[in-house]
Amino acid sequence: MSDLFKRIVDQSPYGVIVLKKDNGSILYINPALKEWGISEKELLKSLPKENSCEVEFKNRFFKIKRFEEDKNIIFLIEDITPLKTYQRAKKDFVANVSHELKTPISVIGSIAETLYLEEEDPFKKRFLERILKRTKEMEALVEDLLILASLESKEGKVIWEDLNLKKLAEEVVQNLKEFADEKNVTVEVEISDDFICRCDGHKISILLKNLVENAIKYNRKGGKVWIKAYRSGKYTVLEVSDTGIGIPKKHIPFIFERFYRVDKSRSREIRGTGLGLSIVKHIALIHGGKVEVESEEGKGSTFRVFIPQF
Ligand SMILES: Nc1ncnc2c1ncn2[C@@H]1O[C@H](COP(=O)(O)OP(=O)(O)OP(=O)(O)O)[C@@H](O)[C@H]1O
Ligand SMILES: [Mg+2]
Repeated sequence: MSDLFKRIVDQSPYGVIVLKKDNGSILYINPALKEWGISEKELLKSLPKENSCEVEFKNRFFKIKRFEEDKNIIFLIEDITPLKTYQRAKKDFVANVSHELKTPISVIGSIAETLYLEEEDPFKKRFLERILKRTKEMEALVEDLLILASLESKEGKVIWEDLNLKKLAEEVVQNLKEFADEKNVTVEVEISDDFICRCDGHKISILLKNLVENAIKYNRKGGKVWIKAYRSGKYTVLEVSDTGIGIPKKHIPFIFERFYRVDKSRSREIRGTGLGLSIVKHIALIHGGKVEVESEEGKGSTFRVFIPQF
């Protein structure tokens, strides 16, 4: 390494390690790494065999990137503890606030409901109806935020079980029956009686509820929804398709982001918070799976969830 480059790398806030490719011996370690007080032995054990990884040493978090060149392997190590601390504080804040809001919102909801049922003056009844509707929306938002918070916490780990998917799908459909009737949409479960899927039943039922709810909500009057399940290679595929309004291509890359809703005008008519699909994606990912979408505007959409089977 030339003197100039050595001086630059010595000053770098990133940790840098260079190993010899042939025998893995250390060619260079910069001072940043020594300042962090991580032992060489510990560090060498954690170096990634591929592009990058994140590791934790003594309550500090590091991102390690790996590059190969002719005779050497270079590792760039970034201290991401401040970022991790911020992310954790943000998650804790959202979880705590949601938790604190849950009780008062449900109290407001039940009082509004009692008043609504007893009220005879049509004018006041209309106001109470609006309070009730908005409270239900807030309840749903808080519920979704709590689900996301629990998925990201220790509770978010998958509890694997062998599950009858048809039974699970029928339960989900039953719980959404009133909503489907209101929208005049028919939901069909096309899964064989003995179809077993290895997954976390509670989480997959939340996932399916969100997909079917969307398929009903963004459908047309008299529309249809199908829930199917089949094997594809090492995966079980859970598929929800609809005859709804579809999703414009340019929005598809973003619909799994938190609070993302497709164009403002149709979102105003059809209410929601934009958290449903981020919950779906999160649940698929913690199963080691993925979600795919196919959609055509004005014709409908198909969401496929791939759950690896071991
Ligand atoms: N089956 C579907 N057909 C058409 N558009 C859809 C469908 N599913 C999702 N979308 C679009 O993707 C956006 C994101 O969906 P997502 O479920 O995350 O949020 P949401 O339904 O708006 O709110 P909620 O948090 O209440 O589920 C929706 O606003 C909608 O525009
Ligand atoms: Mg939704």
